[in-house]
Amino acid sequence: MRFDTPATTNPIDQGKVVGKPIHRIDGPLKTTGKAVYAYEWHDRNTRYAYGYVVGSAIAKGRIRSMDTAAAKKAPGVIAVVTTEAVGELKKGKYNTAKLFGGMEIQHYHQAIAVVVAETFEEARAAAALVKVDYTEEKGAFDLAAAKDSAVEPEGGGASGAGDFDAGFEAAPVKLDQIYTTPDQSHAMMEPHASIAAWNGDDLTVWTSSQMIDWWRTDLATTLGIDKEKVHTMSPFVGGGFGVKLFLRADAVLAALSAREAGRPVKVALPRPFLMNNTTHRPATIQRIRIGAGRDGKITAIGHESWSGDLPGGGPEVAVQQTRLLYAGENRMTAMRLATLDLPEGNAMRAPGEAPGMMALEIAIDEMAEKLGLDPVEFRIINDTQVDPENPERPFSHRNLIGCLRTGAERFGWRERSKKAGARREGDWLVGMGVAAAFRNNLVLPSAARIRLDREGIVTVETDMTDIGTGSYTIIAQTAAEMLGVPIEKVAVSLGDSRFPVSSGSGGQFGGNCSTAGVYAACVKLREAVAQKLSFNSAEDLIFAESEVRSGDRRMPLAQAVADEALVAEDRIEFGDLTKTHQQSTFGAHFVEVGVDVATGETRIRRMLAVCAAGRILNPITARSQVIGAMTMGVGGALSEELVVDKERGFFVNHDLAAYEVPVHADIPHQDVVFLDETDPMSSPMKAKGVAELGICGVAAAVANAIYNATAIRVRNYPITLDKLIKELPEIS
Ligand code: MOS
Repeated sequence: MRFDTPATTNPIDQGKVVGKPIHRIDGPLKTTGKAVYAYEWHDRNTRYAYGYVVGSAIAKGRIRSMDTAAAKKAPGVIAVVTTEAVGELKKGKYNTAKLFGGMEIQHYHQAIAVVVAETFEEARAAAALVKVDYTEEKGAFDLAAAKDSAVEPEGGGASGAGDFDAGFEAAPVKLDQIYTTPDQSHAMMEPHASIAAWNGDDLTVWTSSQMIDWWRTDLATTLGIDKEKVHTMSPFVGGGFGVKLFLRADAVLAALSAREAGRPVKVALPRPFLMNNTTHRPATIQRIRIGAGRDGKITAIGHESWSGDLPGGGPEVAVQQTRLLYAGENRMTAMRLATLDLPEGNAMRAPGEAPGMMALEIAIDEMAEKLGLDPVEFRIINDTQVDPENPERPFSHRNLIGCLRTGAERFGWRERSKKAGARREGDWLVGMGVAAAFRNNLVLPSAARIRLDREGIVTVETDMTDIGTGSYTIIAQTAAEMLGVPIEKVAVSLGDSRFPVSSGSGGQFGGNCSTAGVYAACVKLREAVAQKLSFNSAEDLIFAESEVRSGDRRMPLAQAVADEALVAEDRIEFGDLTKTHQQSTFGAHFVEVGVDVATGETRIRRMLAVCAAGRILNPITARSQVIGAMTMGVGGALSEELVVDKERGFFVNHDLAAYEVPVHADIPHQDVVFLDETDPMSSPMKAKGVAELGICGVAAAVANAIYNATAIRVRNYPITLDKLIKELPEIS
């Protein structure tokens, strides 16, 4: 099905199942431990071997020689697979850094060997015996130092309208500030893990992937085998946040070592290893300039961002939202990319907007203060209903103002002190902050297969993944709504490369796109049912209560099935609506903090997110996405930072003891409100995404609340107490 005209009324609008707060159907499997994650696939009759990965001890250079003699003789060792012996491998389409193979070292903890043994402990012990000689080269590891050598990234990416320089120059009220965001780690719960098993030339890999087809394709490319020979499965995934979008070393190493060992091998990337071995959100330096009239209207807005990556990599697109979020005639965005020899920088939850909004939304707060305007009102004054760089292009649907107004009302914004540093409760300086939320809506084709059997059971098969988001549930809701059956009659099978290729989980596109693919397949199945039951057409049929109805005629749905199950498959494809209409999601974040006047410690007191993101397919799973994202945003505001060793070129705090993410006790009260809306341009589901929207702007709302509490403006994340303590008032 091609989606190229706005959606009209369709079966999804019945809202009997879609849009209802249904608990996740895979919940019991997860709470009872029956959901099987990658490393846990275990067939009693198989003798698995265990691989332990050895990583490079240098950040840049070449391996001179590898000595594996001692490791090979160690107890239980079956095989040692080295990057030297394997030689150069082809690189998959989606990887910047090479995952394995050859003598070149591009970054610290690049995988250089895997030791395979009867047990994990034996493999780990033997891995310590592998000796490696390197020729070390000097690398560049410091973004600030490399900034001046940064160049325009391939493809440019600069944008603008009007005359920014002149507009900024002429503006009576101006802001020109630099903000920085650090390297961040995804820190999802389940580390990368794969089990590989060969059967002749056929390879099966149980892995932890957001994008089954990308992995399958890139694994085949890397190993130099036919894609049809590779079978990939990720039915359950313990989070990803972008680090599992692309094939990783564990899958390649499991496949290579299973071939060498002649039996299935399990390989996991231990947490202290994966933070340097895989990808991270790159640090940014961002310069923002805003000019406005005394009436509060922005007349000029400029945003430049510097980030780094390995050769061949790309920039962090931190200027993305600034092209679209606020009005203003004279505009400019630009990016510069420095070559850094740190591990690969890549997508992490809302790549672009997440770090971009961390900077922009402080700048907006600062500008509001300069203008003497309430920061909620300043944002409202500068709302735009069209793409401000291309005014003939409207937003498909945009209710940022509704989010700000609803949020201000619900949060008690009018209680906020207009003067910064003016509210004190005992030892606590108390303040409130606001930020807009913004994230683009992306669309990817997505296919599904639907089977109806004689018992009236509907089975959905698609290679879509559920990375903790609720895909199983919203897909079941979609099929139940379309076919008029109770949700208990729908079985959903996901995360298997034998199923039709879906959008996968990423970029907050998975919810809308994968359900739209299921919608398309259901439309086909409805047609097949109509034909089998001799109705004239499927169009005016009503599917309800496991019956098919037209006028007075009613037939049980299952009656359409003869001996064999009725099967339909289709794929949603998207036409030009994303070009003719700017599709984005909107929200507003409100935060109240207390800052300890003596120690500078910040405590979150209350948080509220209001989201306007099209139809909410399931308010329970959507809310979970948003509160998770808000929590991650607090981490970005207050604690998360990969600390770079600028001499040796690696992330020092590469475990969850030293890379600090918020825990329950850090987050006392969160609330989420979804505005009731649909977006007919996004898909037949009229849904968009919330999983990334939920993080965008949070850190700035925290920063703005800290400013409101303390009158201290911190522009370098994370806002740790050392950045506050010197400027806090003297304790009397
Ligand atoms: Mo997301 S960073 O596209 O998983």
